[in-house]
Amino acid sequence: MSLLSKLRCAFTLGQGVLIENKALTTTDDPISFFDNWLKEAEKSGIILPESMSVSTSTTEGRPSSRMVLLKEFNQQGFVFFTNYGSRKAAELQANPFAALLFHWNMLQRQVRIEGRIERISQQESEAYFHSRGRGSQIGAWASKQSHILNDRKDLVDSVKYYEEKFAGKTIPLPDFWGGYRVIPDSIEFWQGKADRLHDRFVYTKQPNEWKITRLNP
Ligand SMILES: Cc1cc2nc3c(=O)[nH]c(=O)nc-3n(C[C@H](O)[C@H](O)[C@H](O)COP(=O)(O)O)c2cc1C
Repeated sequence: MSLLSKLRCAFTLGQGVLIENKALTTTDDPISFFDNWLKEAEKSGIILPESMSVSTSTTEGRPSSRMVLLKEFNQQGFVFFTNYGSRKAAELQANPFAALLFHWNMLQRQVRIEGRIERISQQESEAYFHSRGRGSQIGAWASKQSHILNDRKDLVDSVKYYEEKFAGKTIPLPDFWGGYRVIPDSIEFWQGKADRLHDRFVYTKQPNEWKITRLNP
């Protein structure tokens, strides 16, 4: 490694450059690989390492992206929660494919996940909804996410309305709110390395296994 690379590495806390990524070739399960990377991101002190970009696209092929929080993942897929009346929901209704993106800059790592998307069951959404604080539950009821808000006061009034409506009661899951699961058919792990000789490898879903391919950086 050149002196410049070493300096750059030190300045960027370049663990990505320094850590030999031994696991790269030793696992055939991208979900457990992702689990390791997310845990390392948590340990490294990155704030909200579970935040990710979700990209959707209209049927005309116009993409849009926004950040959400990953709340659950397993062999079935990657789950986030949102408003089913939002812009992303409308795009997903018309074109049920999404791309997720994580960037853990301190570790010089990126993960790209692509696949079909589906709504999770109402029971699963219910369980998560009731695990949230009361304020978040009221917020879900009060916000017509992605729709025009003429005055912030309207939102504050809406919160007040639902606080009174549900006072002393269990707040039900709104029928316009819940989770989506991205069922991955492709997961790419990117590890920054010195001199732009980064490591990239892609897991592509086959009927009974994942195929692993390396890509040029
Ligand atoms: C770090 C971060 C986390 C977020 N998490 C969520 C989330 O979990 N669910 C959600 O609906 N919006 C979340 N948002 C807000 C979205 O980025 C977005 O503004 C909202 O979902 C509306 O998007 P849409 O109009 O494209 O549907 C988050 C924003 C940030 C910056």
